[in-house]
Amino acid sequence: MAKGNYYVGLDIGSSTVRAVIAESRGEDEVLRVIGVGKTPSFGMRRGSVVDIEAVAKAVNVALEQAERMAGHAAERAAVSVSGADLLCQEALGVVAVGRADGEVTEDDTTRVLGEVEARLTMPLNREIMHVEPRDYRLDDIKNIKDPIGMRGVRLEMNALVVSGSASHLKNIERSLDHAGTTPTHLVAEPIASAEAALTLKQKELGTVLVNLGGSTTSIAVYEDGDLLHLAVLPVGASHITNDIAIGLRTSIEIAEAVKLQYGTAVAKEVSKKEEIDLSLFDSQEEDMVSRHHVAEIIEARLEEILDFVNEELRKIGREGLLPGGAILTGGGAMLPGAVEVAKHILRLPVHVGYPKSLGGILDEVDNPEFATVIGLILYAEKSGPGSSGFPAGRVWDKLPDGMQGVAEKIKFLSRKFLP
Ligand SMILES: Nc1ncnc2c1ncn2[C@@H]1O[C@H](COP(=O)(O)OP(=O)(O)O)[C@@H](O)[C@H]1O
Ligand SMILES: [Mg+2]
Repeated sequence: MAKGNYYVGLDIGSSTVRAVIAESRGEDEVLRVIGVGKTPSFGMRRGSVVDIEAVAKAVNVALEQAERMAGHAAERAAVSVSGADLLCQEALGVVAVGRADGEVTEDDTTRVLGEVEARLTMPLNREIMHVEPRDYRLDDIKNIKDPIGMRGVRLEMNALVVSGSASHLKNIERSLDHAGTTPTHLVAEPIASAEAALTLKQKELGTVLVNLGGSTTSIAVYEDGDLLHLAVLPVGASHITNDIAIGLRTSIEIAEAVKLQYGTAVAKEVSKKEEIDLSLFDSQEEDMVSRHHVAEIIEARLEEILDFVNEELRKIGREGLLPGGAILTGGGAMLPGAVEVAKHILRLPVHVGYPKSLGGILDEVDNPEFATVIGLILYAEKSGPGSSGFPAGRVWDKLPDGMQGVAEKIKFLSRKFLP
């Protein structure tokens, strides 16, 4: 059978690094998950790299697990970028239609996209990550979704540009380099998550994706099929854990265990009599604590996070106004009661977002925590082998075809010797 196409997604979260390898082969070309790796994340703070070597090590562990399972070296990967310094802004591009008869062609839409980037004055310390076309204007006709085939003279594009801090992106690339993999795409985390957890219909209707990660919560709002807004808030589910640790005067480890085992976000549904015995988590602890109190702590912090989400929606005039509602992904979405609290605070229909199911062996990825990494694979498949703007591969990629297999093996091995 012919060799398939491989896609690797690498989600470097603030709590966990996840790697997934998928293959599409055969006539149906369906994507099948063939390898999964998951390991605690180190060296990240609020979505940004603070220790390149620590991140490289964690990436290495996750990729190696996935590679072993898949029997395929993850030389290149589509990688997620979070971090509170992701920003979006509107931008315009204008070109003269190329053909003498005025018919708009793909060449014009490509050129106008280039013009958006060229006209945008980015500060030196920021780099463009995505230019998401929104609509076009052809002479005096506005709000055109697809101008190809229409006739006119002046083509204008309105786009949403997502940018990140240049040094942050460099640090991610450096960590990946140390881990022996090359990024083919650097994708803003909520865009990747939305790729996996939102349907086209939801994107049309108007929907907000809310990814409740460890130390960040990222959101992406879609309407009429286009990205309308994107933001990363520097607060996430690990802050709930911190609050529990402070509230119960216990360690972060015990607080996390209490949250995972007994946590719920709806305090009124928990009896005030119910108690949690902390000595079950650590023999040195002897306190009994109220489960109702724990739920109150969780509820308060979750409400605060969702208030921030509302603030972002207010900025674009969509607070309480998205017919597609909110879709929650990330580890925080698994907190019992999260949907209920989100319905109340956001005043929207709310659901947990499970990633679109791919074929393959693994149920493990059928979980809102895996939305980002599955989305990376879908994003990479959709947008083709590599994107411009990133280093065009290293020495391995420039070897003649016959040598590629050897190169893959050497790289596969070399990852294991990383200190
Ligand atoms: N079953 C669960 N119930 C409540 N919280 C959970 C559950 N599973 C994971 N979490 C929380 O989700 C957070 C991690 O989410 P994740 O999406 O993996 O973060 P990141 O992508 O930033 O690494 C942690 O704070 C963890 O406690
Ligand atoms: Mg995440």
